[in-house]
Amino acid sequence: MKLFIPTLALAATLFAACGRNNSADRKMLSNDIARCTAQLTRQTDIIEASGEVLIPRTADSRGEIEYVPIDDWTSGFFAGCVWYEYRLTGQPKWLPLAEKYTVHLDSVKYLSWHHDVGFMIGASYLTGYRTTGDSRYRDVIVEAARSLSTRFRPVAGIIQSWNVDRGWQSQRGWECPVIIDNMMNLELLFEASLFSGDDSFRRIAVSHADRTLENHFRPDGSSYHVVDYSLADGTVRRRCTAQGYADSSAWARGQAWALYGYTMCYRYTRDSRYLAQAEKVYDFIFSNPDLPADVVPYWDFDAPDKPTAPRDASAAACIASALYELSLYSSRNDYAASADRILRSLSSPAYLAAEGSNGNFILMHSVGSIPHGQEIDVPLNYADYYFMEAMWRKEQILNGKSFLPEGER
Ligand code: GLY
Repeated sequence: MKLFIPTLALAATLFAACGRNNSADRKMLSNDIARCTAQLTRQTDIIEASGEVLIPRTADSRGEIEYVPIDDWTSGFFAGCVWYEYRLTGQPKWLPLAEKYTVHLDSVKYLSWHHDVGFMIGASYLTGYRTTGDSRYRDVIVEAARSLSTRFRPVAGIIQSWNVDRGWQSQRGWECPVIIDNMMNLELLFEASLFSGDDSFRRIAVSHADRTLENHFRPDGSSYHVVDYSLADGTVRRRCTAQGYADSSAWARGQAWALYGYTMCYRYTRDSRYLAQAEKVYDFIFSNPDLPADVVPYWDFDAPDKPTAPRDASAAACIASALYELSLYSSRNDYAASADRILRSLSSPAYLAAEGSNGNFILMHSVGSIPHGQEIDVPLNYADYYFMEAMWRKEQILNGKSFLPEGER
C-alpha cells in the first residue's frame, strides 16, 4: 500500500501533465492550421487569378514571389502543401486545387536529366494518391520510377544525382556525383515496386541505400553532401560538398535528408542497419553543441559565423517529420519529444510568418544554397511542405491514428 499510493499519485500527475501537453499541442496545431489556411488562401488566390498554374518556390526580402517551371526540383512541393491543407482542414475547396496543381506536373514522369523526380512526383502525386487513392496517380508514380531508374549505374550500384555535362556541376571534375538528398527519392521506387509488382525498382533503391550507407557517413554519424563515384569501377573518387560550408562540414539539410531517408528506408525494408544509421544521424544532430536552444539548426553545423549564421527552417521541418516516424520504430522516447520541440519553435512568431507577409509562404528563415549565393534567409516551399507533413503526423498521433500509408503500418 505504501508503494501503491505514491505510484498512483505519480500516474495521476503524469496523466494530468500529458493531458495539459496534449491540449497545448492541439491549440498550437489549430493556430498553425489557421495560419496555413490564411497563407495558402492568399497564395492560391493569386494563382487562380492569373489563369495559369504557377508554382511558388520562394520569395525575396520584399515579398516578391519566385515561380518555377515544372522541371525545377521543387515543383511538387506546392501541390503537396495543398494536399496537406486538404487533409488538415477537410475543406472540400482544397481538393480540386490540389488535383489541378498535381496533374499540371504530369510530364515530369518522363524527366530523367536529374534525380529529383522522386521529390517532385513524391510530394505531389504520391501525397495525392495517399489522400484520394486515385489509381491514375499510381500510373504516374510507376512511370516516374522508370525514369529515375535510368540513372542507376550498376557498376557503382547507385543512382547518379546530377549530370556533369552542364551548369556549375560541369566545373567540378566529377564523374558520377551522388548527393545525400538522393535518399529521399527512394520512396518513389519502393512505392512503384509495390504498385507494379516490378521488384527491380526496390532492388535499385536497396542498392543505392547500401552504397550510401557504406560511403556517405563519417564516424560521428554525420553525412557528407557529395560522393563522386568512378563509373568504370565503382570506387569513390572524392567526398566533398556543393551546398555546405566545407567538404568536411555537416550541411544541415543534408543531415535532415539522411535522417528522413534512412527512417523511410527502414519502413520499407525493416533492415536494422538503416534504423541504426537514422539513429546515429539523430545523435549527431541532437548531441551537437552547435545545435541552438530552439533546435532550428544553423544552415551548416560548422558555419564559422555562429551565432549570427542563418538558420535553416527547412532542415528543422524535415527533421521533425522524420522523427515522428522514427519514434514508431524505437523504444527510445526522445524522438517524438525532439520533434515536438522543433514543431513548437517553428510554430512561434520567430519562424511562423504573420498573415500576408513572407510572400504568403508559411515559414520564414530557410536557406537554399549559401555557396551559390542563392536563397539566404528566405521562405522555401519545401520548408512549408515538411512542416505541414510534420503537423499532420503530430495530429494523427494526438488522435491515436496511424500516419503511415495503408499496408506499411
Ligand atoms: N535537394 C536540394 C537541396 O536540398 O537544396
